[in-house]
Parts: sequence; C-alpha cells; structure tokens
Amino acid sequence: MASTRFRMIGVALFVVALSAVEAIQWDGGPADKANITSCVGGIASIPWSFVKGDGETLLSLAWGFQAPGKEKTQIATSNNGHFYTTEKKKFGFLTNAGLSLHDARSQDSGDYSVQVQLLQTDSNLVTVGRMVTLSVTDTPPATQDGDLHVTLSDVVRDDVTEDWIVPLYCGHFVDLGHPPVGVVWTTPSGEVRNSSYQDKGSFVLSLSSPVQGGNYSCHLSPSAPAARCLTATSTLKAAAQLYVHDNDVRLLLLEAQLQETSSRQSKLIGDLNRTVDFMFQGLSSCKDWLARDPRSGVRAIQASGQIMAVYCDQVTDKGGWTVFQRRKDASVDFYQGWTEYRNGFGDLEGNFWLGLDKLHSLTTSQRYELRVDLYKVDWRKGYATYSGFYVDDASHNFALHFDNFTGGNAGDSLSNHRGQQFTTKDRDHDAWDSGSNCAQIYHGAWWYTCCFNSNLNGEYNPKNQHHGLTIWHSFEGGNSLKFTEMKIRPI
Ligand SMILES: *[C@@H]1O[C@H](CO)[C@@H](O)[C@H](O)[C@H]1NC(C)=O
Ligand SMILES: *[C@@H]1O[C@H](CO)[C@@H](O)[C@H](O)[C@H]1NC(C)=O
Ligand SMILES: *[C@@H]1O[C@H](CO)[C@@H](O)[C@H](O)[C@H]1NC(C)=O
Ligand SMILES: *[C@@H]1O[C@H](CO)[C@@H](O)[C@H](O)[C@H]1NC(C)=O
Ligand SMILES: *[C@@H]1O[C@H](CO)[C@@H](O)[C@H](O)[C@H]1NC(C)=O
Repeated sequence: MASTRFRMIGVALFVVALSAVEAIQWDGGPADKANITSCVGGIASIPWSFVKGDGETLLSLAWGFQAPGKEKTQIATSNNGHFYTTEKKKFGFLTNAGLSLHDARSQDSGDYSVQVQLLQTDSNLVTVGRMVTLSVTDTPPATQDGDLHVTLSDVVRDDVTEDWIVPLYCGHFVDLGHPPVGVVWTTPSGEVRNSSYQDKGSFVLSLSSPVQGGNYSCHLSPSAPAARCLTATSTLKAAAQLYVHDNDVRLLLLEAQLQETSSRQSKLIGDLNRTVDFMFQGLSSCKDWLARDPRSGVRAIQASGQIMAVYCDQVTDKGGWTVFQRRKDASVDFYQGWTEYRNGFGDLEGNFWLGLDKLHSLTTSQRYELRVDLYKVDWRKGYATYSGFYVDDASHNFALHFDNFTGGNAGDSLSNHRGQQFTTKDRDHDAWDSGSNCAQIYHGAWWYTCCFNSNLNGEYNPKNQHHGLTIWHSFEGGNSLKFTEMKIRPI
C-alpha cells in the first residue's frame, strides 16, 4: 500500500518540480545516479545534504529503495526533523538528507533515492530528488591468524629463466577479499615493489642472488578497495617485516643447489642403472655373450655390479673366454707399476692387461677356469689350463688361487706360483729377501716367488734369450714367446 502511494506522489510532483528545480542546491555527497560500492558487513553511507533557497520551507524527506528487478519501496521518511523507518537497525539518518546503511549485505544492493519536498514563497510545492546505485560487494581480506607475516621460504628454481630464487612470502591469506587485495613490498634500499604473484595464499617477493640483507616489509596495497573494508583496529592495516641476513640466503641457495645436483646425479645413475640392467641382463661373462653373438671381439659385461669392457675369444676350445692378458708385439710397455696393474692398461684389441681389480671381481662372482695360450717364435702352439682360478682382493695383494693344473701341451709353469701375491716394480710381495724385487730384476709383474717358472708380463723380445723375457718355462725354457693370451671361462 505504502509503496503504491509513494509512486503516485513521485510521478505527480515531478511535473511540478520542473519549473523550480534550482530551488535547492545539493551540497556534497555522491552525484546523482552515481555508482557506489560498499563493504559487506560495513556501513554504507550516502551523505546527501542540500541548501535551501531563500524563503523555502522543508516539508518532508522520503527515501526509497529498489532492488534490481523489484518494485521500489519506501524505507524511511522525515517530517519536522523526525526520522521514521520501519527498520531501525538497518537505516540511520545523516545530516541533512543522507542515509546510512548498517551491516550491509549483498541483498542491500540496488538503487537508493531521496525525495525532498519544499514549499516556496509563492506557495509552489516543489519536490527534488537524487538517486545512487549501491553495490555491496567489497569484502575485507583475511589471514590465518588475523595478522600479516613475512616469511623466508625454501629456494625454488624459476622454470623459465632457470635462475635460483629465494621467495619472501607475505601472508598467509585465507581470503584476499573482494575485489582481491594486493601488497606492496619495501626492500632494504627503500625500493617499493607491487606484488601480484600469489602462491598458496601469499604474495611473493623473489630475491635472487646476490641478496641485499636488511629489513623487508610488506603491507596491503593502499589502493585496494577491499583494504578499506577492514575494521579500524585490524592488524592487517599495519606492515609486516622480516630481517634477512644475506648469509642465510647464500646458505639456502647453496643447500638447494647441492640438493638438486645430488638428486640429478642419483636420477642419472638410476636411469643408467636401469638401462644397464636392461642391456646387460644376464651378460656377466663372454660365455653369456656367446649365446647372443658368436663372434670374437670387445664386449661389455656386468660383474659384481660393475660394467666393464672385455675381449671375448669365441673361437678357442668352443669359445666363451674372457681374455685378460695379451702379448703380440712390443708396442705396449708391460714394465708398469702397481696402479697400472690394478687398473689395467693397453688396448683390448692388441696388447693389454685387463686389471687386477676387474680380474678379482670377475673371478669371485662365479667359478672360473683359466687357460693360457702360447705361441713360440716359429708359431708352434701350446696351452695350459687350470681349474677353480681366482684372484684375491687388493687387501690381499691380488694373490693367485686355483685348484689344479688340468692339462695342456705347454705344461704347468704356474703351480709354483699358487697362493703368491702380485708383485710390481714398486710393490714387492715376492718370496725373495726384502732387498730384492723380482719384478725389477726380471722386468715384469707377476705372482713372483723367488722368482718364477713363468713371467708372461716380462719384456717382449722374441729374438733374444735372457731372463727378463716373456717366458713359460715348461714350454720354451728361457726363450721369449711370440704370442701369449691369458683367459678365463665360467665352469
Ligand atoms: C553505473 O553503472 C552502470 C552499470 O554498470 C553504468 O551503466 C552506468 O553508466 C554507471 N554510472 C555512472 C555514473 O558511472
Ligand atoms: C603499484 O600499483 C599501483 C596500482 O596499480 C600503481 O598506482 C603504482 O604506481 C604501482 N607502484 C609500483 C612501484 O609499481
Ligand atoms: C629492521 O627493523 C627493526 C625493527 O623495526 C629495527 O630495529 C632495525 O634497526 C632494522 N634494521 C635495519 C638494518 O634497518
Ligand atoms: C646403481 O647400481 C649400483 C650397483 O648395483 C648401486 O650400488 C646403486 O645404489 C644404484 N644407484 C641407484 C641410484 O639406483
Ligand atoms: C685337485 O687338487 C686338489 C688339491 O688342491 C686335489 O685334492 C685333487 O685331487 C686334485 N684333482 C685333480 C683332478 O687332480
């Protein structure tokens, strides 16, 4: 009923008012038809006021509200200085025509209008009005504990630039408000930076090395509308600060870099392990290779978790031999020291010594037989075989072990060396007195006693006859051999 009457009056008086519209002067407040916003839960004020013209008398004030798509209703009136409203908790009166709206809600959004009725000196009844559109949309931001904090976080890597960055976090926000707030950072040098990047409810300032030590502070961007929705006592209005020691940051960077390097390395090793496991599955000796590829040549095998390149002899006595020593000419010097004999030297396709460490890993990963192939200068061929061959580890100086000489036309020139440790020119483990080193005297490296029946790492010199040569006594006495090969095959 009330709203219908109000509309009729409004329409009727509008026509009359046209002739005297300059009767009053609006004094401040929002412009007619302005859009204003307000905070949810806050007070929306529409501070209209006016100045009357000479001789005018104020008759009444009336306020109306129209929600979008709804009818206009009268919400308050004022007569003779008395303010009337049906919703006392909601609406208040501001001097001298303004309206305040308490605890604003989104359903309070809509058009608010005021109509002022005046009587002029010539008895003209004049009504003038204003209208604003209020949007109750802004909501204040909120953090986890109602306070703002700056924290130094873990180091991250920028996906794009690949640079290391140490992020400072300003937050922690559980709600950025509406419209969302931003923050402003101040660095130790006084530089001011806006921050819009958000990560898990925090604004991030990325410090990249070298980092400037000192106080870093953040506060809500003053231009953020939602910031003014905070209560006067909210601690979010103050700035938060953190003192950053540049040494701490350097340490963080260093730790992160180390972590990444080691995780990359272990990933690489893991990948390699998988590839290797796949490639070398079941290939732990040349005997395994024989089934896959019957040709002789250099192959990779895996023994005791170690990958190594070896030469496979797939011809001699049905093949399957892993060769660990070969002499064919004088191009490689076999008068080498302990380290060289441990690690191996030479060329797998030519003259070489595979290495005592590898020989140990191979011969202790499964049971092996040993075969020694020998050629005299006139190319007459001889061989010797031994069962249960293995070589001890470095802490036992790679001592020579086997069960028995099992045959061969070259005869047994090794049993005399059984159990003996390996001797090189710089590591004397022979059975001779401490002052004499068989390796030095006989120009080789072997499981010397005092000193030998065989000396296959001796000087290669098939034309000469002297004691420092490549010798297998039971085959060619003190004469140097033309060709030697030492090889092993799983039993
Ligand atoms: C108020 O907002 C409406 C709709 O968004 C727009 O059409 C109108 O021009 C705005 N009025 C003013 C005075 O900015
Ligand atoms: C921060 O953002 C505000 C609003 O977008 C802008 O007025 C001000 O110039 C900016 N300040 C800096 C330091 O970028
Ligand atoms: C950092 O801020 C603290 C507390 O506001 C102050 O006591 C200190 O002097 C500041 N340090 C620097 C280097 O500005
Ligand atoms: C790779 O294999 C070796 C030998 O089996 C093992 O010791 C090592 O832990 C493996 N590494 C990774 C990263 O899987
Ligand atoms: C092999 O040697 C062991 C001792 O090392 C001996 O008992 C055994 O009889 C030998 N076997 C052959 C077939 O000669």
